[in-house]
Amino acid sequence: GPRFAVFASGSGSNFQAIYDAVRTGRLIGEPVLVVTNKQDAYVVKRAEAVGVETLVLKPTSYSTKDAYEQEILKKLQELQVEWLVLAGYMRLVGNILLDAFPNRIVNIHPSLLPAFPGKDAIGQALKHGVKVTGVTVHLVDAGMDTGPILSQYAVEVVAEDREKTEERIHAVEHELYVKTLQQLWS
Ligand code: GAR
Repeated sequence: GPRFAVFASGSGSNFQAIYDAVRTGRLIGEPVLVVTNKQDAYVVKRAEAVGVETLVLKPTSYSTKDAYEQEILKKLQELQVEWLVLAGYMRLVGNILLDAFPNRIVNIHPSLLPAFPGKDAIGQALKHGVKVTGVTVHLVDAGMDTGPILSQYAVEVVAEDREKTEERIHAVEHELYVKTLQQLWS
């Protein structure tokens, strides 16, 4: 399976699900690096706990997005990374990484795209009052949560219970991401 890096900015529950799937043989691939733009993100602790190397970079320490991504690219090339797996990475991917990994960057988003792109998709869906939302896995292009869709899964909104809906979406994410990567890489 391919050598891949996971990009994350938050809790890293998707990283954990993917890592666990590799460990238990449900996904064939090698998680060789976690990249984050947030020093205090819990995903760093998760990566350290399982012995996956981390790269923590502060975008504001770089004069341009290109310079920031060049630094990431250097590490990715050193480790011979073949695929980028975005899992709650809350930054737009720029040209340096898009050009280096054409059609080799995957993202997960907690809505049925093209509905509710961007931040807090679950909150957006609940606010809008939709009865069904879901999860999308897609290839990354220069847009915000655009790019060819690989898989989707619908989740019913539990009226008056935001927490239940959120829990269900996250559980679906963990299953759908593993399944989609497994298909993509086999
Ligand atoms: C996930 O719900 C993911 O779909 C979302 O961030 C969360 C990260 O959770 N991504 C986006 O909203 C991308 N636009 P995690 O850190 O526990 O994996």
